[in-house]
Amino acid sequence: MMHRLARLLPPEPAHHLTLAALKTLPVRKRPVDPRLKTDVWGHSFASPLGMAAGFDKQGQAMDALLRLGFGFTEVGSITPHPQPGNERPRVFRAPAIGGVINRYGFNSDGHDLVAARLRVWRHDNPTAALGVNLGMNKDCQDPLGAYVAGIERFEDLATYLVVNLSSPNTAGLRDQQTTGLRDLVEGLQRARRFDVPLLLKVAPDLMPQQIETIAGTALDAGLDGLIISNTTLDRPFGLPQSLQTQAGGLSGAPLTAKALACLKAFYGYTQGRIPLVGVGGISSGADAVARLKAGADLLQVYTALLYKGLGLIEEIHRAILAEMARTDTPNPRELKQI
Ligand code: FNR
Repeated sequence: MMHRLARLLPPEPAHHLTLAALKTLPVRKRPVDPRLKTDVWGHSFASPLGMAAGFDKQGQAMDALLRLGFGFTEVGSITPHPQPGNERPRVFRAPAIGGVINRYGFNSDGHDLVAARLRVWRHDNPTAALGVNLGMNKDCQDPLGAYVAGIERFEDLATYLVVNLSSPNTAGLRDQQTTGLRDLVEGLQRARRFDVPLLLKVAPDLMPQQIETIAGTALDAGLDGLIISNTTLDRPFGLPQSLQTQAGGLSGAPLTAKALACLKAFYGYTQGRIPLVGVGGISSGADAVARLKAGADLLQVYTALLYKGLGLIEEIHRAILAEMARTDTPNPRELKQI
């Protein structure tokens, strides 16, 4: 219902309206079947399905999102200093193919304000599952310093932390997935004081050789997981002509096959030694099951919710439960072994 109303507005005002509704209207707590409980990094997630980064960038709707049936939510990306992001318009829908192009460019309230919000919330929700996704400012000269500042600021608030190296909308960010990655990751590891899992979020636009290098670095350096994937720079056939030339990252259904293939490639190298979070174009129960079978331990969605609404959460839960029953699998994580 809400998603149909929101679609009458341009995408960014629609997003503000949705967030405002989630923050202010009472959200009925939707029960989650206990068989969906998923243990990762010693934390118990009520469901393997979470809200992806970019929806609640400023940390304002965690309660509502968790009540809707998500097993976790990921706040961010958060930059060290507040910044406005790119000029509007910066989000574009492609409803015919279930896609979105965005070039927000990390509009962020900054570490201080978001950390203050999360601290208040965490006080009342000590065990709730929250990912905190870290970005860097547009004018950043010291990426390692930016991410270390994020780790220091958020490690006592997060269930897991994400270093986002894969937004296409900050110049030079994606290059760090390959150039200097080992130094960056080792520097991040040295900054950690608590035992909070640290993950990298990667782009789907990687060559096989780059995937092998990133997976090897993650394993060697003792990272705790990978999020696969962010948006793509591809402009597939079928995208309306007016969007072919829009700069930004494409998400949603046009990304499904590519993100799945990317997850499979990473799983080929990691083989379950570190958890993988599958995201990118998950638009149905079948997509979610395919991602778990391909090696994901946790899943995230964003774009398909804009088109299908909140019923998608329930659809995905039902499909995972049906596949567990069909294959006599005791929990979602073990579907990858079937
Ligand atoms: C995103 N995404 C994103 N990711 C991230 O790590 N930090 C961010 O700030 C954002 N911002 C953002 C804004 C918008 C409008 C969209 C649509 C997406 C990427 C998101 O988390 C996810 O990786 C991709 O969108 C792929 O998943 P879906 O949307 O196809 O399910």
